Amino acid sequence: MVVRGKPIYDMKCSACHKLDGKRVVGPGFEGVTNRRRPEWVMNMITNVNVMLDEDPTAQALLEECLTRMPNQNVSVSEARDILEFFRNNDEERLKLRDQAVK
Ligand code: HEC
Repeated sequence: MVVRGKPIYDMKCSACHKLDGKRVVGPGFEGVTNRRRPEWVMNMITNVNVMLDEDPTAQALLEECLTRMPNQNVSVSEARDILEFFRNNDEERLKLRDQAVK
């Protein structure tokens, strides 16, 4: 899944998100599995418009970033691969993953 997630990230996400902690257009992905629960990440990837309309955390990010993340047409199974890729990224950079409790 990590191996499948990488090319999807490269093609559809890397223009706006880096893998370190630095914001470009959107937040850097370092630590994303430690600050957000897996289902929240999945929803953000597959249902970004609903999240930006209804989820307070997503709305706070929009206020910070001032750009609306566009829907990337990612399937649920591709989103699962990306989630695994994020877990691997956090494991490699921080030696810590899946710490989010809310
Ligand atoms: C055109 C720029 C853009 C692209 C492309 C993009 N995003 Fe985003 N993303 C954003 C912005 C901006 C935000 C912050 C919320 C907002 O302002 O809409 C965000 C927020 C997020 C978050 C929440 C991050 C956090 O720290 O909680 C996740 C997860 C995410 N994006 C995943 C993805 C994935 C996965 C892809 C590729 C499939 C992707 N994004 C493609 C701009 C983008």
